[in-house]
Amino acid sequence: MTFSDTHVLVTGGAGFIGSHTVDLLMAKGCKVSVLDNLSSGTLANLASWENHPRFAFVGGDVTQDITEAMAAAVARHGPIHRIAHFAAQTAVPISIDNPVTDIEVNLCGTTRVLEYARRNAVAKVVFASSSAVYDDDAPVPVSEESSARPSSPYGIDKLAAEIYLDYYARLYGVKFTALRFMNVYGPRQDPSSWYSGVISIFLDRAAAGEQITIFDDGEQTRDFVYVTDVANAVATALLGNAGDGAIINIGTGVEVTINEITRTILTLAKSRSAVQYAPARAGDIRRSVTTMDKATALLGFQAHINLREGLDHTLAWVRTAKST
Ligand SMILES: NC(=O)c1ccc[n+]([C@@H]2O[C@H](COP(=O)([O-])OP(=O)(O)OC[C@H]3O[C@@H](n4cnc5c(N)ncnc54)[C@H](O)[C@@H]3O)[C@@H](O)[C@H]2O)c1
Repeated sequence: MTFSDTHVLVTGGAGFIGSHTVDLLMAKGCKVSVLDNLSSGTLANLASWENHPRFAFVGGDVTQDITEAMAAAVARHGPIHRIAHFAAQTAVPISIDNPVTDIEVNLCGTTRVLEYARRNAVAKVVFASSSAVYDDDAPVPVSEESSARPSSPYGIDKLAAEIYLDYYARLYGVKFTALRFMNVYGPRQDPSSWYSGVISIFLDRAAAGEQITIFDDGEQTRDFVYVTDVANAVATALLGNAGDGAIINIGTGVEVTINEITRTILTLAKSRSAVQYAPARAGDIRRSVTTMDKATALLGFQAHINLREGLDHTLAWVRTAKST
């Protein structure tokens, strides 16, 4: 099935998950416009599509009205039919230090995107939500019914944005799916930021033979989901009716300790990096893993890339990125 008549807006499409979603939507034949302020994303992530006739890049900011910024892309490809909304301030510690900025980007930004959707009769918005909405003390595995009681402004704003999505659906008929991602990893995840995912940081250090620091005792767990699996879930919800009106966890259902992941990374990278332990960081949760029932039932979702395979792909990317 091709989607040559479907014009999709991907906010934050120059970022890590957004750019993989763009790759998939382009491969499916959609017309794709990316709106991004390049605060953490890069045009290099979109280099394959730069001159493609179905692709447009729009420099723009979701904290402003995006109508004017979108005008040229709409004139070229026609009205927007569907929106994948990734643009966000993604660092939990920054949200704690500066909750107002987090509200401006993550909550007001989402509301601006919803306003655009309502005024332009966009059929559906898929929202990049997060497992950060859950109560740290919620028993694992977390399901969508688990207690949502965020421990950070980032989580609060993701949760509030979900409530806005539901409100716009009820009032204006803008359909939505909110996908609560677990820990996403894969190529293009920037390892240089202190707030990057643990896998991108550890692979980067292991490839360079540099010391790896594990906070706490390393027995804390995460549910790591590979980025192309996440992009698949987004595209399924975005391009049809699957998951309409639903909030769905996206992960693998597999719980892995940080010690296990470190050992696997060191083996794969044939690295002699030293491993040191440091005190636990405030706000880091002990166990994190999702149930898969709702994602499977509503989206037919299943993670296809297992951890070892995903780490292999990511390590190959880290090595290429380091050599260029
Ligand atoms: N990576 C994860 O593990 C994870 C987990 C849960 C949820 N999420 C969510 O998924 C989405 C994508 O995350 P990512 O890991 O790809 O991060 P990322 O930083 O790579 O991508 C975010 C993109 O949004 C852009 N952006 C930021 N502020 C903007 C603004 N005001 N206007 C326009 N563009 C702006 C950035 O330049 C970047 O390209 C985010 O909404 C994030 O909260 C990510």
